[in-house]
Amino acid sequence: MEKINAVITGVGGYVPDYILDNEELSRIVETSDEWIMERIGVKTRHILKAEQGSGVSYMMKRAVRQLLFKTQVDPASVELVLCATTTPDYHFPSTASLIIGELGFSNAFGYDMETACSGFLYALETGANYIRSGRYKRIIICAGEHMSSMVNYQDRNTCPIFGDGAGCVLMEATTEELGLIDGYYRVDGQGYDYLHMEAGGSRNISSHETIDQRLHFVFQDGRPVFKHAVTKMSDAVETIAKRNGLTSENITWLIPHQANVRIESAVARRLGLSEDRVMINVDHMANTSAGTLPLCLWEYEPKLKKGDRLIFTAFGAGFSWGASYMIWGYDGAPEAAKSPAQFYKEGEISREEWKKICINRAS
Ligand code: UT7
Repeated sequence: MEKINAVITGVGGYVPDYILDNEELSRIVETSDEWIMERIGVKTRHILKAEQGSGVSYMMKRAVRQLLFKTQVDPASVELVLCATTTPDYHFPSTASLIIGELGFSNAFGYDMETACSGFLYALETGANYIRSGRYKRIIICAGEHMSSMVNYQDRNTCPIFGDGAGCVLMEATTEELGLIDGYYRVDGQGYDYLHMEAGGSRNISSHETIDQRLHFVFQDGRPVFKHAVTKMSDAVETIAKRNGLTSENITWLIPHQANVRIESAVARRLGLSEDRVMINVDHMANTSAGTLPLCLWEYEPKLKKGDRLIFTAFGAGFSWGASYMIWGYDGAPEAAKSPAQFYKEGEISREEWKKICINRAS
């Protein structure tokens, strides 16, 4: 029997309209554009503000609608929807169920995965294994966050870092030597003290006290997280590169988790890669946690070519981290997707319009 590989065949994304820049942020907390640019490299971030109360599914649905529109795939042919997020709309039901219900995935199952900033990487591996098993042929992986729902805008240590957004990919079976080739993933359980949200789970349930003590926000001790992020991502990338004969000569793109430009540069340096081969969106999207990697693909899709060698790497709470090697499956983006502005808009199409598109395509 021929070996089955799992390849990405389309990308969608969505970021909210509202842009919070460093100038506005410096009126909220004591900070400056200069400090943020020097220490983090973030100029602006998108915030789900006007649509407050919408949750992460609001952004994921828009990203997925756009993906279906671009790929012209029939929602009824999708067998699985995986959602990587740490900011689900609810503890339950799952975000995946909200997406499946609203977008007409009449033959799919789905569930959420929570591994903070490593979420997309782990969901990609999970999804690929469903396909490699031979039992599933077409799945969607969503990843993104409503980070502003858990960022403390009184804490200058964390509030400049994060933004909101969601991306998604279509993954399909192929017998070509394409798609997710190798992965290295680890969790060490040593990260709680440095990166966590203390209350709101089953251990420290929500109460007046937890709210008064502001325990429902991201806590981060930045320096140790920074050090671990650089070391673990660099080691993971090196492991994957060595195992697959990849060098600075033949890697086309490095796609690092977007937490801080200094972290991304350090990982790229270890591989000996020049800046023009590193996907970066942290400067205008900030850290969208699980969303950073698919949002990079979303923006760089027009530049990608079939056969490109990609290395993804991520690091997040837990600590959790890893790296994946992927051979890209198609050239550029569909003609209509070449203008991101159009697709920001396309992500906003209404349910009625969406139904019309599906009906037109089916007929
Ligand atoms: O996505 C999950 C993984 N997360 C990450 O990878 C994030 C990793 N960490 C980082 O990116 C960096 O550690 C930060 C960007 C969070 C912080 O940068 P840093 O260079 O490590 O700064 P620091 O926390 O050591 O703080 C240096 C100084 C402190 O002042 P003192 O104590 O030296 O007087 C802070 O109070 O900078 C001060 N500071 C600020 N000043 C102006 C902290 N935040 C700010 C701010 N504006 N926003």
